[in-house]
Amino acid sequence: MTILAVTGVSGQLGREIARRLVALPDRAPVIGLARTPGKAGHLGIEVRPGDYDQPELLQTSLAGVDALVIVSGMAPPDHRIRQHRNVIGAARAAGVRKLVYTSIEGPEDGTRFSPVVKSNRQTEADIRASGLDWAIGRNGIYIEPDVEFIDSYRARGEIANSAGSGKCGYTARSELAHAYAALFARDDLNGGTFDLNGTPIAQEELAEYLNRTFGTSLSYHEMTPEDFAADRSAELGDHIGPIIGGIYEGIRQGAYDRPGNYAEVTGRQHQSWKDYFSSLAFRQKTRPVA
Ligand SMILES: NC(=O)c1ccc[n+]([C@@H]2O[C@H](COP(=O)([O-])OP(=O)(O)OC[C@H]3O[C@@H](n4cnc5c(N)ncnc54)[C@H](OP(=O)(O)O)[C@@H]3O)[C@@H](O)[C@H]2O)c1
Repeated sequence: MTILAVTGVSGQLGREIARRLVALPDRAPVIGLARTPGKAGHLGIEVRPGDYDQPELLQTSLAGVDALVIVSGMAPPDHRIRQHRNVIGAARAAGVRKLVYTSIEGPEDGTRFSPVVKSNRQTEADIRASGLDWAIGRNGIYIEPDVEFIDSYRARGEIANSAGSGKCGYTARSELAHAYAALFARDDLNGGTFDLNGTPIAQEELAEYLNRTFGTSLSYHEMTPEDFAADRSAELGDHIGPIIGGIYEGIRQGAYDRPGNYAEVTGRQHQSWKDYFSSLAFRQKTRPVA
């Protein structure tokens, strides 16, 4: 039997993709792989063990799978490359026909985030060389963390980072899931690498959307890349801090100010930021008052 599978279904992107695949018309059975299967029990699909550091277990779990979405891992760059190779090798050994990979947009050099981008490019190269059918999406920067950060922004009265006047083609995980379901279902997109992002916006526009949605009065405060990276490292540590700092360096350089290929993949435009933030405002208004 043909089976579709998604790795990382205990995480936010993996679970959104699994939900989208389940909703495809005339679909094959969908299974999830997870390092921590117990965290994905609520999905209502079969979940098999899927730790990127355990190649034999991955191969066993991929038995019968026809097409696989590999959700990019979280490990530091060199380790991450090895983990992804474990998944690709297990997929080949298990007889998987097609790989879809969730990569990342961004510059391969010149920012503190570039080592992570480079590791994703290496996995892209490994997938292209795998001999299997493949399609690759490069994710824009998630918008959700800015929404989840609203209480911190409110406390500061501002959005402070090093993006400057650079525009960022953010995306939302729900929109990415829609695109990955299309990359799964459409074999005419095989062999393609696609930037998946919405309309680029500047930090002032982001502040304006947040203000309209949450009733805040945020302004934008530009920091130097050095100061912002130090600020993030002090709060988030020496692995994640520079990554966040580096993402904003890339935005500052204009690396995320690109139209992307979202409509080519999905057949429709990426959700507009007006509609995205309106839907958040609607959810707030309709939340039961305690
Ligand atoms: N575009 C962006 O702005 C952006 C931002 C952050 C991250 N990312 C990338 O996008 C990916 C998915 O994002 P997300 O929102 O789903 O992140 P998330 O909610 O934090 O989920 C991360 C997932 O990675 C899994 N994972 C970590 N190490 C693993 C391993 N050794 N073997 C198997 N699974 C492992 C986690 O499993 P457990 O549940 O067992 O921990 C979890 O399911 C991330 O992993 C990262 O590569 C992109």
